[in-house]
Amino acid sequence: MTGRLGAAAGSDDRAWIEARVTVERQALDAVEESLAQAGASAVTVAEGGDDRLLVEPGAAWSHHRVTGLFPADAPPPDLEARLARAAGGGVGVEWIPVADTDWANAWKDHFSAFPVGRRLWVRPSWAPASLPSGRVEVVLDPGMAFGTGYHATTRLCLRWLEGRISADSPPAVLDYGCGSGILAIAAAKLGAPRVVAVDNDPAALEATRTNAAANGVGERIEVRAPGAGPGDGAPFPCVVANILSRTLIELAGELTEATAVGGELVLAGLLGPQADAVRQALPRFRWGPEVPEGEWVRLDGVRQEG
Ligand SMILES: C[S@@+](CC[C@H](N)C(=O)[O-])C[C@H]1O[C@@H](n2cnc3c(N)ncnc32)[C@H](O)[C@@H]1O
Repeated sequence: MTGRLGAAAGSDDRAWIEARVTVERQALDAVEESLAQAGASAVTVAEGGDDRLLVEPGAAWSHHRVTGLFPADAPPPDLEARLARAAGGGVGVEWIPVADTDWANAWKDHFSAFPVGRRLWVRPSWAPASLPSGRVEVVLDPGMAFGTGYHATTRLCLRWLEGRISADSPPAVLDYGCGSGILAIAAAKLGAPRVVAVDNDPAALEATRTNAAANGVGERIEVRAPGAGPGDGAPFPCVVANILSRTLIELAGELTEATAVGGELVLAGLLGPQADAVRQALPRFRWGPEVPEGEWVRLDGVRQEG
């Protein structure tokens, strides 16, 4: 199972209900996104009828069972229509009351430590320590924030960071849309001397602060809301942003200003067909080849003069 948490999936005593649909692989991302947009407090994906955990989500599955968690007293009335639009055809939504009010902890059973690339090791804080030699560990409790490391877009960014940040003159890094703080923490632990992590979700800022401290890099990571505090406008040699494509386009001016001339901007969170629109919104960058993972792509740009 793979998953992400939204703002409300906490340990309160509200009753919850699950909306379950089975979709074909090509509709998966759109349906996940649609559940999130409909206000799902958590979205999880499993192979149809099987909760088996995969580190590379969905790599070989033809059908997926996608589940959105909603407060039982406020399920979205138009969900079936929304999901049908997203899937490009009718979907049957199965509504299942959730008996276990400790759902927020139950999902943790599905997550364990895993490697990313050649150098990183991501471990949920509740999983036993088992660091393979030669790897840099990032320990995480995403809490209410996005960023377990299981999502392809996060891993695309982690792989870029581990390739870019080496012992010789490691760069300062801006993590725009930090979620759990996974990218900021990985950057700091790989050796970045200074990292700024920003997010417009207070739960993400809190998760990043807590996770940074737990990883012993709290001193090197400045965590803040966008546009707040001193340091804005001082451009970075490395900017990483894993956010949906329309937000990346809205933030184009800010991301451009935040990247030093000659510096690198790394974007994930977009699907292959969205790449052109994102590049067009950021004309001051020279773009390298797209780096794909499943339907997602990463864009690596170098800021030009002007
Ligand atoms: C897909 S998550 C990425 C989290 C983490 N960086 C990762 O790679 O897993 C995107 C994050 O961007 C944040 N975000 C969305 N729009 C934003 C905006 N306009 N300004 C700042 N953060 C934003 C969200 O709150 C969310 O935490």
